[in-house]
Amino acid sequence: MAKLSLEDKYMLYESSVQNHESDIDFINKEYRRIFKKLPLSLREDFGGTAAMACDWVKQSASHIAWGVDLDSEPIKFGRENHYKRLDDAEQNRMKYIEGNVLESRDFKADVVVAFNFSYFIFKERETLVNYFKKVREGLNDQGAFFVDLFGGTDACQELEEETEHDDHTYFWDCDSFNPITSDVQYYIHFKYKGQKYERVFSYDWRMWGLKELQDIMKEAGFSEVLAYWEGEDGDGGGDGNFYPSKIEENCESWVTYLCALK
Ligand SMILES: C[S@@+](CC[C@H](N)C(=O)[O-])C[C@H]1O[C@@H](n2cnc3c(N)ncnc32)[C@H](O)[C@@H]1O
Repeated sequence: MAKLSLEDKYMLYESSVQNHESDIDFINKEYRRIFKKLPLSLREDFGGTAAMACDWVKQSASHIAWGVDLDSEPIKFGRENHYKRLDDAEQNRMKYIEGNVLESRDFKADVVVAFNFSYFIFKERETLVNYFKKVREGLNDQGAFFVDLFGGTDACQELEEETEHDDHTYFWDCDSFNPITSDVQYYIHFKYKGQKYERVFSYDWRMWGLKELQDIMKEAGFSEVLAYWEGEDGDGGGDGNFYPSKIEENCESWVTYLCALK
């Protein structure tokens, strides 16, 4: 099977699935709306290459960030591609931690994020409660935990979604869904320079529901959990504007945020 270089693997991944500029804008807007000040410290859990943490510290000389991931491979890519582009002062305010998000840390942050659904790796409720408790302990008193999540009628269907980008095609493949356990197997494939690369990333996850996650966050001690929904553009697609909401119509596919307040 054809294999991508490490450089291409993470370059294709980041350009297909990440949009941390708009994630940072959303976090700043919501945190400021809730606490009437800007968040300065960010812990990026399941950070992978920690592209977001690297961008976070560029905001001002008071911004600091940590990126936590178990795997040395994306960290290596992140160090060589994102961290390296920071100036000395910015580098001093950003740290990679090669470690488990379930471990306690000796620092606290204004914001913790777990993006690209990475916490779906925790399939047992007890593990997820435990993880959310650790996040809460790691937050300052005026602290907020942001996660993204997805759903809709297509989310558990065995189908492959194809998205064309300028120089590659991205495939999001739902290979199997077990209705008894909610276990779901996803793969990411790419087509790049005329060649298809299969199963470049593999995710053995549990599909967690929005309300279920809100309940688990409350059980972990969070005082309030806000759910957001995305506004619609004229063609029925998402317009990139997320607002707090309690009642919405389901659709084939949605991606949104939860924000849990310490
Ligand atoms: C789906 S990727 C997300 C990367 C990045 N956050 C993003 O938004 O694209 C999931 C990452 O979680 C990491 N991971 C899985 N379990 C972990 C754990 N218990 N502690 C820390 N990192 C973990 C994997 O190594 C992988 O890099």
